[in-house]
Amino acid sequence: MESNLNDKIAVVTGASHGLGEAVAAQLAQAGAHVALIARRAGPLNEVAEQIRAAGGAASAYACDVARAEQVKATAARLQTDFGKVDILVNNAGIPAPRSFAETDIADWDEVIGVNLSGVFYVTRALWGCLQRAGAAYVINISGTAGLRGGGSPAYGSAKFGMTGLNGAIAQAGKDQGIRSTILYPGGMDTGWRGAPIGVLPRRESMDPQVVAKMILHIALSPPEFVVNEAVLNPLDHPFM
Ligand SMILES: NC(=O)c1ccc[n+]([C@@H]2O[C@H](COP(=O)([O-])OP(=O)(O)OC[C@H]3O[C@@H](n4cnc5c(N)ncnc54)[C@H](OP(=O)(O)O)[C@@H]3O)[C@@H](O)[C@H]2O)c1
Repeated sequence: MESNLNDKIAVVTGASHGLGEAVAAQLAQAGAHVALIARRAGPLNEVAEQIRAAGGAASAYACDVARAEQVKATAARLQTDFGKVDILVNNAGIPAPRSFAETDIADWDEVIGVNLSGVFYVTRALWGCLQRAGAAYVINISGTAGLRGGGSPAYGSAKFGMTGLNGAIAQAGKDQGIRSTILYPGGMDTGWRGAPIGVLPRRESMDPQVVAKMILHIALSPPEFVVNEAVLNPLDHPFM
């Protein structure tokens, strides 16, 4: 295992809140320069400032991952600023209506756009930068909804789609020094769907800092080693 991430460049999407914020902070603490992506510049700049105040290195890039042109422009800036990307965490995601009846076409397009197309747009646009890193890692954040049918049609379909995309990234990256993993977390204490934060016991809702630690652990693994997939759940809600 590498002792630190000094000289590594990490891109984290959805980095202004929740799991992405926790992952960005931990990658920065381990020595990486973290490029933060989210739509709203205000919260993103606040997270970048917090990381810098703690002694880390962070830059903010306001970008909607569902807008291919914005993603291309951001990737061009990242290439100019860093020339390579060692770690890409595709974490940006939005919730969707829970039932088939409640899901209209606009919901479907928006959720597939962010949660699935966004992963492809960002990974595709950064492919050259990932290749240049020599031993890059793409870490895709799905959810247990990506392992079961039913439930929210748009959210579940996007997360199932990520499984296929993760496999395609792993296959394409194998001989180019790009590894890919997909994580299927269960419920996390991030205020998802407006849930109050810090109310449920940790056995029911995972601390995003703990999940971020697992992601850091994967990012630190040696280049000849790959975690293909992992399911992470709070103890009282094990995935069956
Ligand atoms: N929380 C859970 O219980 C849970 C469980 C399983 C899986 N997950 C997955 O884990 C990931 C993170 O969830 P979370 O709970 O940490 O979410 P969160 O707290 O709601 O944060 C979402 C982040 O994504 C950004 N974002 C949303 N849409 C975006 C877009 N179109 N382009 C760029 N950035 C965008 C948000 O910032 P802006 O709004 O400023 O863009 C924010 O920084 C998601 O993929 C989610 O599906 C979560």
